[in-house]
Amino acid sequence: MSTYVVVGLQYGDEGKGKITDVLSAKSDYVVRFQGGDNAGHTVYVGDEKFVLHLLPSGVLQCKGKCIIANGVVVNPKSFIREIEQLESKGMNTDHVFISRRAHVIMPYHILLDTYREEEKGGTEIGTTKKGIGPCYEDKIARVGIRMVDLLNPEILREKIEKNLRVKNSLFEKYFEKPTLDIDEIYNEFVEIGKKLQDRIVDTELELNEAIRDNKNILFEGAQALMLDIDFGTYPFVTSSSPSTGGVCAGAGVPPTSLQNLIGVAKAYTTRVGNGPFPTELDNELGEKIRQIGGEFGATTGRPRRTGWLDLVSLKHATMINGINNLVITKLDVLSGISPLKIATKYKTEDGKIIDYFTSSTTKLYDYEPIYEELEGWDEDISHARTYDDLPENAKKYIEFIENYLGINVYLVSVGPERSQNIIRKELF
Ligand code: GDP
Ligand code: IMO
Ligand code: MG
Repeated sequence: MSTYVVVGLQYGDEGKGKITDVLSAKSDYVVRFQGGDNAGHTVYVGDEKFVLHLLPSGVLQCKGKCIIANGVVVNPKSFIREIEQLESKGMNTDHVFISRRAHVIMPYHILLDTYREEEKGGTEIGTTKKGIGPCYEDKIARVGIRMVDLLNPEILREKIEKNLRVKNSLFEKYFEKPTLDIDEIYNEFVEIGKKLQDRIVDTELELNEAIRDNKNILFEGAQALMLDIDFGTYPFVTSSSPSTGGVCAGAGVPPTSLQNLIGVAKAYTTRVGNGPFPTELDNELGEKIRQIGGEFGATTGRPRRTGWLDLVSLKHATMINGINNLVITKLDVLSGISPLKIATKYKTEDGKIIDYFTSSTTKLYDYEPIYEELEGWDEDISHARTYDDLPENAKKYIEFIENYLGINVYLVSVGPERSQNIIRKELF
């Protein structure tokens, strides 16, 4: 048996989808364990582009089962849309299942997310407005609606009614917005339940059985550690735990079952949404990286903020996740940029030099990154397939990261397509 966990180490969009796709060819199961359709995971198969929001990226290659586990918040309408999109391309999706325990994103969650962001006027988080935060809030407040409830109309109606009493009052009195109609929501979600009933199962039982049967299981993270509800730049974070630690609670598998902990980082940094970003390049070079790297959000289309690689935050992310295999993506984007800077320390507002990530988000805005400069390279590296195909300076860049973090880079990605990888060690 082998288990693999793929998580993002920066602010999301590191290329987790592409890596999951590559690894899923040999997986018996590919599992999403947190987040929802706020994710945007891009996979290129030849020239064809797939963007997966809620379905595991493994759905394209995995011959086994694709699972949306209990820790995910599910917008069933997005689920149906994605399934239909894949089926319209002739793909079979009978192998995709959702946990009975997963919470359902309801229309009022999406509205709450939207109204709250609008209300903040300048201090907004910059959420994807998919209702992720409000849905997790209801889960923790123990008033949420779960996938299993969609299969029991009586319970479903009761729960929607209870929720609407509170939400409608908020909409009407606080946000001064229209209220929602119980019958409309109820009828729609009962129908959804009927449509999805064969896919709603006890995924934790299936996964634990798979572990006992020595299957290959790949857990695919969405978002990333710097957006983690506990260890990210709170409050500019998402509402889940996109860490390796999140896998156990989010999929119902024991910590002792997790083996290969794969952290994915871009060769530089991007962030979409608001919040501190110490190494941000809010200038021409940042724009150049955005254009070359195609740095526009896969879910919202927003331009991603760009900046230098930040090893202080990466060390924080690899520490919390216990990463034992690193993936560096988009190294090809840095061709032609020299010198390249990498942040290895921060100077605090009172002049102290530190090499750890702070919990004080507000202070981060005043921290100054301290950089090491490395010489760049001019060659197009998108055709490199072995480590020795890389120019010396590209190798030095990779080895600088390895030395700082004390973790080996097992895969270097040099392009968006499935085959554009330098694999230094076979994990399967
Ligand atoms: P995810 O959310 O972590 O799955 O990443 P996204 O799909 O949101 O964003 C990563 C983007 O970079 C996608 O457009 C990928 O096709 C693309 N990509 C992934 N790896 C590479 C790479 O090594 N080089 C280049 N140039 N693009 C890449
Ligand atoms: P993938 O899986 C990048 C960001 C949003 C916002 C914050 C909270 O593609 O890497 P939310 O809607 O989750 O409440 O928004 O988190 N965010 C992401 N940024 N990639 C993602 O997913 C993201 N999912 C959420 O922009 O700043
Ligand atoms: Mg993404």
